Amino acid sequence: MKWHPTLYDGHLSFVWKYGESVIELLDPQPGERIIDLGCGTGHLTARIADTGAQVQGIDSSAEMITVARRNYPHLCFQVADARSFELDTPVNAVFSNAALHWVTEAETAVSQITRSLKPGGRFVAEFGGRNNVRAITTTLSHLLAEKGYSGLKHPWYFPSIGEYACLLEKVGLKVTYCVLFDRPTALDNGDEGFTIWLQMFTDGWLSGLSPQERDGVIAGTIDRLKPQLYQDGQWYLDYCRIQVVAFKP
Ligand code: BEZ
Repeated sequence: MKWHPTLYDGHLSFVWKYGESVIELLDPQPGERIIDLGCGTGHLTARIADTGAQVQGIDSSAEMITVARRNYPHLCFQVADARSFELDTPVNAVFSNAALHWVTEAETAVSQITRSLKPGGRFVAEFGGRNNVRAITTTLSHLLAEKGYSGLKHPWYFPSIGEYACLLEKVGLKVTYCVLFDRPTALDNGDEGFTIWLQMFTDGWLSGLSPQERDGVIAGTIDRLKPQLYQDGQWYLDYCRIQVVAFKP
């Protein structure tokens, strides 16, 4: 998956803007040490820093971290993977918005998160839950099969609350809050909004196809989903989000 920070900040800013409500759930306190896992271009990292917490942004994309450092040169950012990031000392909280659905090795990630927390520390996250963008995953998968492109599977982890809460308990966290909710999400950029979304987010999924094949699959997906997801000049995606708060005993 190749990230395009300019495209992300310019056309898909709703992804981090929705995360502002997750900061309320985090309730950062002055002086707390907090990790923003999957920080992207750093906007939420900066919001957390504004509360007086000492925050560090981590992202596996070097392109995103370059832009995060340029956006917020006074803050600390690091390129590292959610499955293997290492900290010198444990922190008060790990926060993550719209990132963990990209980590299919979820147990490895939550084990790492748990290791990085102090006793009493908290994990607060939002990401795609069960049935997130189901219209898109179903339609695009059918289209790939019809065109004879085999072996391509969507790259996302969208767990149910039962599944995710069990996973958190398995690694030793105490889950105090876990919800799954629908969030129909309006895209910016009018007619072009869904094309931009597909180009950005299916980059990894369609990486085995030629540019022409990809364009064909994207155009076919848009045609098929227009009656369902497009209304009065705007695209609305069928997002379902999971939110969790869990503590290390
Ligand atoms: C998101 O970051 O919002 C997202 C990414 C992939 C699929 C669905 C949503």
